Amino acid sequence: MKMKKIILYLLGIVVLLGYGCTQSLKPICSGEIWPDLDGVHINAHGGGLLYYGNKYYWYGEHKCDTTSAAMVGVICYSSKNLTDWKNEGVALAVEDDPHSDITKHCVLERPKVIYNEKTQKFVMWFHLELKGQGYTAARTGLAVSDTPAGPFKFVRSERVNAGKLPFDMTEEQKAVMDTLTEAYYPKAWTPEWIDAVKKGLFLKRDLEGGQMARDMQLFVDDDGKAYHIFASEENNTLQIAALSDDYLSHSGKYVRVAPSGQNEAPALFKRKGKYWMITSGCTGWAPNEARMFSADNIMGPWTQHPNPCIGPNKELTFGGQSTYILKVHGMDDAYIFMADIWRPKHPSDARYIWLPVQFKEDDTPVIEWMDSWTLDYFKKK
Ligand code: GAL
Repeated sequence: MKMKKIILYLLGIVVLLGYGCTQSLKPICSGEIWPDLDGVHINAHGGGLLYYGNKYYWYGEHKCDTTSAAMVGVICYSSKNLTDWKNEGVALAVEDDPHSDITKHCVLERPKVIYNEKTQKFVMWFHLELKGQGYTAARTGLAVSDTPAGPFKFVRSERVNAGKLPFDMTEEQKAVMDTLTEAYYPKAWTPEWIDAVKKGLFLKRDLEGGQMARDMQLFVDDDGKAYHIFASEENNTLQIAALSDDYLSHSGKYVRVAPSGQNEAPALFKRKGKYWMITSGCTGWAPNEARMFSADNIMGPWTQHPNPCIGPNKELTFGGQSTYILKVHGMDDAYIFMADIWRPKHPSDARYIWLPVQFKEDDTPVIEWMDSWTLDYFKKK
């Protein structure tokens, strides 16, 4: 009898160990349906991850079957192993109150959450378009929570850095910008218009009310300072803006990146002291060729590199658009590139691309398509 018990006990251990192994070996299959622990396709698009207390939290846009407008809000999932995701429910809910900035039917995109060590608050920033106004509001929204999965409390939405000029703008550049007026450039996309945009046509237009802020990213540096990176100036120019120490406002210090370059969907990471940023061009839900930039200082200057993608469909970022780059916790030199394959006709069926970032001998990142891979990829390198 005793022997039987011992055998059963040993068998249990073997089964548990086996289960643990298969867990860590679960493949990541970009472009496929990705079921959560309830067997339902993960609904967290344009998302971002946070590592906190031994778990990853994945925040993203909840998408309905028929509209890309926000009818639910931001959903949060949690996981210890990056492959098995538990639905934690709605982290930030859109509101029934028709006067709320985040009333149902608004556009609430690309939510990102960071944790402030000093205040011990979870801080969410996102791109917000007011209900019924298309994409003209171009605001950023802020919500805060005491716990990672929420519920987050909506704080406000606004344009960014009203009344402030980029901190590195010279007197000469400012004098040139001061001469620009939209009326002089009645036709967009002429070489003169592109040049005027580069010199700050929209920067000047929005100086008083604040800069436009659409597709966005948050980045917390090693020193705890946080940055908001967003498509601004009618999606022509990216801006990188330092947040206040509590992450709840913009400090007023910012730079413009690739003026007139038309970048959106910025995703950033830092490796060996260098900042890398992958972006897309501006073609709405349709995919386009990824772009890549690097800098020794997050406030620039930023240098453009060739498209980092390799493999089939590399000119279209494998059919996706960048959303986040995760530094995997506890693994050396492990970064995952994340992108969305949008399905505007059936938004909830949008798919995810997760691929390991590889590095060439000169440390330049490349992203190679893999139908399927496991996290063991990083251990084997
Ligand atoms: C994309 C953007 C998405 C969404 C979409 C709407 O370019 O990256 O987040 O805003 O446009 O057309």
